[in-house]
Amino acid sequence: MSRGKFITLEGGEGVGKSTQARLLADALRARGIEVVATREPGGTPGAERIRTLLLSNEGEGWNPGAEALLFAAARSDHVERLIEPSLVAGQWVICDRFIDSSRAYQGGGGGLDDTNLVELHAIGSGGLLPDLTLLIEVTPENAAQRISSRDGDTADRIGGRNTGYHALVASAFSSLADSEPNRFVRIDGNHDAAQTHKLVMTEVSRLAGGAG
Ligand code: TYD
Repeated sequence: MSRGKFITLEGGEGVGKSTQARLLADALRARGIEVVATREPGGTPGAERIRTLLLSNEGEGWNPGAEALLFAAARSDHVERLIEPSLVAGQWVICDRFIDSSRAYQGGGGGLDDTNLVELHAIGSGGLLPDLTLLIEVTPENAAQRISSRDGDTADRIGGRNTGYHALVASAFSSLADSEPNRFVRIDGNHDAAQTHKLVMTEVSRLAGGAG
């Protein structure tokens, strides 16, 4: 049994990642590939409990270090209990956000040192990296419009941070993509969902074993 492929979708708020993750999972299943579709923070019962701690607007919230540790703890459980066993079983794992979100949000937005975040990932998750990371990018205007039609005024604790924070996140994602061109591809998410999905499938089809 050959190991499955691990694909992550990344990007700021309102870029359409979740829609693209769903369309990608459906398209791969239609090609006979067994797919596990999951998300972060969350994906296992333990990690979903940590998700509530991280994103609910109750209480005073977390300092950037505590936030990074909680994301890393959730990821550790997710990798050990769901992602790694699925890959070993030959399934493809499509994950909405992964380690690059910690590097962009807690690092770029929160000011934590990138080397420390990578080290935390080594401790918690054996440094597991995706085979392919799709970075979906949209203009700030499109993101703002989609967020307001999706969330109204009910943003979670992190999504609701100011535009300065989100600009730092977007620029950190962009630098990550530049620094690892073999793992990342940039997807222009300014089109409608069906057109963006075509761009995604072109990139995914390049993965060894071919998906299309
Ligand atoms: P979610 O509702 O999944 O947002 P989205 O639809 O934008 O993906 O909430 C996840 C939030 O958590 C989002 O604001 C990004 C943030 N996040 C981090 O700050 N660090 C991380 O490592 C991860 C996985 C998510």
